Amino acid sequence: MSRNEKKIYNSFLKDGYFNFKTILNRKNCLQLRKFIDMHRPCSDKIFYKSKKEFLRNSNFKNYSPGEKDHNAIFNLNLDLDFIEKSKNFIKAVEFIAGKNYKIKKKSIIRSVPTNIHPHWAKKITQNVGRPNLNPYIKREYQDVQYFQNVDFHQDMTRGIKFVTFYIYLDDVSQKDSPLKILKGSYKFGHTHYPHYIRPGTEGWYYSNLIGDHMKCDEVAVYGKAGTVFCFHGLNLHGSLLNYSKKPRISLRYLIEPNKKNKNSALQKSFKMIKGKIVENLKLKNNFDFQRLDRAPDGSFLQTGTSIL
Ligand SMILES: [Fe+2]
Repeated sequence: MSRNEKKIYNSFLKDGYFNFKTILNRKNCLQLRKFIDMHRPCSDKIFYKSKKEFLRNSNFKNYSPGEKDHNAIFNLNLDLDFIEKSKNFIKAVEFIAGKNYKIKKKSIIRSVPTNIHPHWAKKITQNVGRPNLNPYIKREYQDVQYFQNVDFHQDMTRGIKFVTFYIYLDDVSQKDSPLKILKGSYKFGHTHYPHYIRPGTEGWYYSNLIGDHMKCDEVAVYGKAGTVFCFHGLNLHGSLLNYSKKPRISLRYLIEPNKKNKNSALQKSFKMIKGKIVENLKLKNNFDFQRLDRAPDGSFLQTGTSIL
C-alpha cells in the first residue's frame, strides 16, 4: 500500500469519511448539470398546485427513484462514463471498497431552495426531520430525489453493507446546503431515528443509549463542481435548508464492496462497529423501531430536527 493509500485507508476507518476533492472534469460536470436542469427543472411548477390536488394524486408509496425503474439517470439516458470510467473515480472507489466493487444504486439529488417550496407543502413538512419532497411533487418528476433540509440520519438501514459516494455538479458553498457529516459516528452501528445527538461546545455528542457517548466533529463539505467525497453507510449526515437561488444538483452512488476482499477499508470498518448494523424490530404499534418518524401508513411525523 502506498503512503497515500494508507492515509486514505486510516482516515476512512477513523472518520467513516473521506473527501477526494475535485477529481472529475469540471466542464463535463457543469454540462451534465445543465442537461439535468433542463429536463428536471427545479421550480414551483413541479409541485402539485394544492394540498387537495396532492391528496387526490399522491401517496407515500414508491415516490423515490428506484434502482433501475423510475430513475432519471436511465429515463434521460445519461452518459456517465466520464465519471464511472474515469481513472480518478475508479481509483477513489477502489481505495475504499476494494477492486470489483458494485454500484448498487445511483440517483440524482436536487436540493430545493426554500423560496420555491409551496406554502401548502411547507405547512406539512415543517418540523419534519427528513422532509422528502417527492410525495408533493408530480409523478413525472419523481425520478429525481428532491429534498429540502435533512436531519442527521444513516443511509444504510437494511443491513446491506455499502458506502455512499457523493458528487457535486455545482460549486457548493455555505448557502447551497452543503452535506454535513458527523465524523466517526458509524462506529455505534445502527441506531434508531431520531438519533440521540446533542450539541457540545465543539462538535456533537452522540449516544447509543446503552451507556456509550461519542464526541463527533462535524464536517461541512464545500467544493467545486467535480468534487467527490464518500461516507460510511452508517455515518450520520444531513444538510441545511437551501438559501441559494441556484438549487444544487448532485449525484449519489451507493457502492457495495466485493465480499471476497476482506481487507478493503469498507470491509474492515465493520469490525470497528460496536452494536448491530441493522435493526429489524417492529414495535407493538406497528412502527419500525429504526424509523420512529414514520407512521405505519408511510407518512412522516413531526419530530423537529437537529439542523435547519
Ligand atoms: Fe442520506
